[in-house]
Amino acid sequence: MEKNPNDSLRIQISNITDFSEMGSRFSKTVSVDHLLSLILKQAMSAMDAEVCIIWLKDKFGNLVPRISFGLNSRIIQSVKMRLGVGLVKCIMRKGHPTNIYDLSKDKRVPLKRLIKKEGLSSLLAEPLIMENDRVGVLMICTRSKRRFTATDLKVFAAVAKQSALTIADVGLYDRMDKKVRQKIEEISMLFTMSRSITSSVNSSLLLNTILDKTRLLMKAKFCTLNLIDKSRSKLEFAAESGLGTEENEDFRVFEGELAKKVVKSGMPLILNEIAAYTKKIPVLLKRKKIHSVAFVPLFSNRRHSGVLAAYMQDVRFFEKAEMEIFGMVASLCSMAVDNSAMIDKVRKDYFNSIKTLAEIIDANDSYTRGHCDKVMRYSLEICKRLNLDNRDVSSIKTASMLHDIGKIGVDLSVIHKEGKLSDEDWAKIRKHPEIGARIVRQVGFLNDIVPIIMHHHAKFSGGGYPNPVLRGARIPIGARIIAVADAYDAMMSDRPYRKALSHEEAVAELKKCSGTQFDPKVVTAFISRKV
Ligand SMILES: [Fe+2]
Repeated sequence: MEKNPNDSLRIQISNITDFSEMGSRFSKTVSVDHLLSLILKQAMSAMDAEVCIIWLKDKFGNLVPRISFGLNSRIIQSVKMRLGVGLVKCIMRKGHPTNIYDLSKDKRVPLKRLIKKEGLSSLLAEPLIMENDRVGVLMICTRSKRRFTATDLKVFAAVAKQSALTIADVGLYDRMDKKVRQKIEEISMLFTMSRSITSSVNSSLLLNTILDKTRLLMKAKFCTLNLIDKSRSKLEFAAESGLGTEENEDFRVFEGELAKKVVKSGMPLILNEIAAYTKKIPVLLKRKKIHSVAFVPLFSNRRHSGVLAAYMQDVRFFEKAEMEIFGMVASLCSMAVDNSAMIDKVRKDYFNSIKTLAEIIDANDSYTRGHCDKVMRYSLEICKRLNLDNRDVSSIKTASMLHDIGKIGVDLSVIHKEGKLSDEDWAKIRKHPEIGARIVRQVGFLNDIVPIIMHHHAKFSGGGYPNPVLRGARIPIGARIIAVADAYDAMMSDRPYRKALSHEEAVAELKKCSGTQFDPKVVTAFISRKV
């Protein structure tokens, strides 16, 4: 049955007044859905409509419902309408309300099944316009057929305008939020970088971490770092992120020439579009679809120390703030490079000191002279076969050198005893892993190797010392490796109570004890090495 509300004009005018009052409250409210639901409820009451929906454009060219009243919410959430087609095209083109008296008879109308299921009859719709952009549609429907009056259309236009303004306001909040979020992200990355610089003890890892963060920060495809060599005669490639191992001679020449210019001028260099700078674009840049690049110089003690570069896939026009951030990253890089040099020196000095210490232990025991050195060599060969990462290899190298440092704390008469060892002697010798762990624990640098030293006499199937319960993969990999290297060298050396074994005999013994005393994976890696 047709319904013509013909309600008092006064009520509708009063409702329009309500909308403007509502507008004054918007600045105090931030939830877009709350605001829109207030507007929709007011619109439904003013227009005497049963259904009201706000549709907004998505990035795929559809209108999707943002908020609705009077419909089955589960169904409405899953529907969408194509932009530029049928009724939607017609509504979006018009700057004023579109009125359909009988939805069942209009061929342009989409979502026929939904309309039938919900028993919708008439419709009034208007585009939501925000800064000349049609961002969505406000729609009301009635379940009885209805001819909307001129006053209905005016009220509806006011509601649509208010809805668009609300969306625009919240859109503004979103944009601000995005900028703030981006800033926070940038600051947090810079903070992480600076923290890595002060806490890292691994120089190559540190540079890689910084380059990774730079790439994210600059939204770059890849980043490179070239440093001036010790003789200060040339720039040398030092680190990269995102480039991988791809080698390309013309790229190196291209980058080298530009990096030299940056070092010479001491100023950043930006190529917004590489194609505008040179016709000879390196193959690597073409393959990676690079369009722009930014270089910044690095300084150390007021002298040029290198060049940081970020390669982007877009034609990039840098804002001042972006270049400031890039400059800050370059400063952090310079600090990292300085710290790396210092860290490397300290580590080298330290390693030499512990090596001397290990040699003193060796010298105290004529039967094991050169033992630590050989255990280190065998351990490194196993690491290589097992493809361990650099950090593990570095720890295992140091630990293998120092694995018996705890013997310093064992009575020398026991260590040098030529006859059979008593139970009491063995008890003393078995203390050396714990004593060694205690010694290296005192040194911050060596914390990584404490568990390796502690468990280098653990047995793969359990029952070793000092913790007989420890077994399998719970024994640190470094300890499992040193156990094999240590045993092999011991078998290959003369002892007061037996002659040295041959290589074949020692390997046979390792195989025999594989899975019980030793990790089978480590034994296989060791015996497959070139002798
Ligand atoms: Fe030992």
